[in-house]
Amino acid sequence: MRLGIGTGSTAAFFVTALAERVRKGLRVVGVPTSEATRAQAEREGVPLTTLDETPELDLTVDGADELDDQLRLIKGGGGALLREKIVAAASARMVVIADGSKRVAPLGRFPLPIEVVPFGLKATEHAIARLLKEQGLPADLRLRRAANAEPFVTDGGHYIFDAHVERIGDPERLAASLNTIPGVVEHGLFIGLATGAILATADGLVELGQV
Ligand code: A5P
Repeated sequence: MRLGIGTGSTAAFFVTALAERVRKGLRVVGVPTSEATRAQAEREGVPLTTLDETPELDLTVDGADELDDQLRLIKGGGGALLREKIVAAASARMVVIADGSKRVAPLGRFPLPIEVVPFGLKATEHAIARLLKEQGLPADLRLRRAANAEPFVTDGGHYIFDAHVERIGDPERLAASLNTIPGVVEHGLFIGLATGAILATADGLVELGQV
């Protein structure tokens, strides 16, 4: 199977479990969604490829910061949203693994990550703020910073604004309009990508969609 391999603390458990199965003979090849996941997969012995060598994948397994019952997601808390979205879009199926607390209605309590090009940062910030206001959302944008207080830099060399919007009434509209701003590379709204989810709850596993 050709797998997209997600990023984050939940996906890290998946990599470890996958590596165990590989050692027992499972034949898979994976495309990691971040440098962190690449390092872990290499360390643990999961065979890797790239989207250039393997442009179509069977399944991506990844975490999420929030998901709703329509399998719309907010991702990017770990800063890997761009590669995660490219890999998910190249996959026939995407299954989210998360704990039950990530299931919400509506989306938006988790700040929405918006990946931007460093060039023209202020202009892009103003354009995003204007768009949020037009859609009745708070224009509370915070540039994500690393531990050393410098701007956090993604694997693609970009910055991230976290938009504290609280409630996203129309995720499709917000997603589509954010993509029209030239300095925006991608945003963390994943719509129409996840085909299923497996959630860990106190009462056991809950499945949504097709898993
Ligand atoms: C990484 O950029 C994110 O999209 C992660 O998939 C998401 O933040 C979930 O991470 P955890 O499993 O660590 O909560």
